[in-house]
Amino acid sequence: MTESQKKTVVTGDRPTGLLHLGHYVGSITNRVALQDKYTCYFFIADLHMLTTKPDKEAILAIRDNIREMVLDYLACGIDPSKVTLYLQSAIPAIYELNLIFEMLIPINRLTGLPSIKEMARNAHIDPESVPFGLVGYPVLMSGDILLPKAHLVPVGRDNEAHVELARDIARRFNQSYGDVFPLPDFLPTEVPSLIGTDGKGKMSKSAGNAIYLSDDEKTVNKKVGGMFTDPQRVHAHIPGNVEGNPVFIYHDIFNPNKDEIADLKARYQEGTVGDVEVKQKLAAALNAFLTPIRERRKEFAEDKGLVEQILYEGTLKMQEIGNATVNEMRSAMGLKGAWNKISRLARERAERVKA
Ligand code: TRP
Repeated sequence: MTESQKKTVVTGDRPTGLLHLGHYVGSITNRVALQDKYTCYFFIADLHMLTTKPDKEAILAIRDNIREMVLDYLACGIDPSKVTLYLQSAIPAIYELNLIFEMLIPINRLTGLPSIKEMARNAHIDPESVPFGLVGYPVLMSGDILLPKAHLVPVGRDNEAHVELARDIARRFNQSYGDVFPLPDFLPTEVPSLIGTDGKGKMSKSAGNAIYLSDDEKTVNKKVGGMFTDPQRVHAHIPGNVEGNPVFIYHDIFNPNKDEIADLKARYQEGTVGDVEVKQKLAAALNAFLTPIRERRKEFAEDKGLVEQILYEGTLKMQEIGNATVNEMRSAMGLKGAWNKISRLARERAERVKA
């Protein structure tokens, strides 16, 4: 298949910081597979971060997060020679699409979205003072998606409604002004989200139940040692439950030694193995899985300026693509003629004044 026949995939992450095992199974492996099949645009959604955290301190903290995230991507095998990696806030066209798209969507289509309410709740924002920008979160996201004319958007279920909205906006735009945008589709990532080490909910930074891709061996041992298991099992000789038990969920995903897992499960159910052994073997498997990632990460981190260079090149490329889309959009809307005329008149006048 030639480059131009490949479908376009767009996805991004808010720069929340280091990636953990949940990101790995939920999205990163999927992206590594997608990069060989599609034209991929992956970006850091730093503008979306502002929807819940616009304070300067948070903005300054984002800078380090961006670098760490790109290092995590690279360490996991996301390849900048296959994928365009860029920084959302450095693409002026996104701001413009956002504004135009705001005109095409009724406000109640946004305020009713459970995802917005949940984001407000998580950020401790009073429901009465939800920022305009947070209500517009999915509109901005539609700008991200439609800018490179994406066909497919791999995101979690929590973002499915947002892709649906982008589709709606594309449909409305095309109907009102002419065919400019393909209608994007939600591409579900098959793997359900990974449970956290506390066994309470999905792995996340804020819940403090995450094992990071960049955690060293000691940290992994410690976190696994403290993992939630079967709470009924207060002694090693009590038969335990492997179903839904986080330690066994992780074993199933990260331990390639299936015989070892089968043996541990059997003994766990009989009450002939202690939690300590199950956890030690899990920690060993996780460390074996993470070692090559850590090594690659270190190499990339030591290559001074590499992350910046990769983001810079991707951003330049995306700016060009973005400008082309904006031009098409303005033409379709009839904004381009007026725009060009006014700028010509202004230029001519400036020249007259100078002369
Ligand atoms: N909403 C995504 C998240 O939950 C981030 C994001 C912003 C995104 N714009 C996007 C994802 C466009 C896919 C496509 O972090």
